[in-house]
Amino acid sequence: MAGSYSLCCLLLGILTFALWSLLPPCTAAAGRSGGLTAGFTRMNLRESQFVVQKPWNVPLDQRYEFAGGVRRMWVFNTDKPGSPNHPGGARTEIKINEIYSTGVWQFEGDMYDPSGTSGASVMQIFGAAGEQATTLMLHVYDGNLTYYHQLRNVVAGDVYGRWVRLNVVHGVAASNVTVFVEGERRLSVPGHGGEQHYFKFGVYKQSHHQPSHHMESCLFFNNHF
Ligand SMILES: *[C@@H]1O[C@H](CO)[C@@H](O)[C@H](O)[C@H]1NC(C)=O
Ligand SMILES: *[C@@H]1O[C@H](CO)[C@@H](O)[C@H](O)[C@H]1NC(C)=O
Repeated sequence: MAGSYSLCCLLLGILTFALWSLLPPCTAAAGRSGGLTAGFTRMNLRESQFVVQKPWNVPLDQRYEFAGGVRRMWVFNTDKPGSPNHPGGARTEIKINEIYSTGVWQFEGDMYDPSGTSGASVMQIFGAAGEQATTLMLHVYDGNLTYYHQLRNVVAGDVYGRWVRLNVVHGVAASNVTVFVEGERRLSVPGHGGEQHYFKFGVYKQSHHQPSHHMESCLFFNNHF
C-alpha cells in the first residue's frame, strides 16, 4: 500500500509540474526600443483609462492580473459576455479610454501569447463606418497572428511562448493602418472610416476556425502614442 501511495504522489508531482510549466512566464517583457515612436508624443495614461471588460458573472481577479507592468488577461470560450444583455462573445479585454478622431496614433506594446491560445482577437483599433465595428483586428490562430480571420494574411508567425513587439500606427485622415512586428513593417491596410477610435487588447473569442477553450494574452504596455 505504501508503494502505491508514493506512486500516486509522484504522478501528481509530475502533473503539477507539467501544468505549472504551461503557465506563461508573463512577468518580464523584452523591452527592446525601436525607432518607430520618434516624432510621436508619449501619452501618460491614467490607470483609470485602462477599462477592463470581462465576463459579467466572474470577479475581475479570475480573468485579469496586473503585475510588474504586465497585464495578463484570459477567458474561456464558454464564458459569458460583458453584461447579461450584451450579445457579444466571451472576452477579457482592455479598452484604452483615450478616444481620438483626428491625427496619427501609435500603439506600442510587447505581447505574449501562451501556446494553445487560438481563435482570439488580441489587439483592435475600435471604430469604423457603417456595419463594421473595427478598423483593425489582429487574431491568433494556431500560433500565427493574422489580419482578422484571414489565415493566409499572417502578420507574425510562430508567436507562442515569446514576447513580440507590436507597433500599430493609425492615420485617421489618410485612413491607413500599418502594423510593425519587431520593428519590421508587416501589414499596411486601409482604415474602415468612422468618427471615433480607441485601442483595445486582451482576448476576445472569435467565431471562425474553432476557438480554443482557454485563451490568454499578456501585454507589457509602453504607453507611447
Ligand atoms: C502560419 O503561417 C504560415 C505562413 O507564414 C503558414 O505556412 C502556416 O500554415 C500557418 N499556420 C497555420 C496553422 O495556419
Ligand atoms: C498613411 O498616411 C500618412 C499620412 O498621409 C502617410 O504619411 C503614410 O505614409 C501612410 N502610410 C501608408 C502605409 O500608406
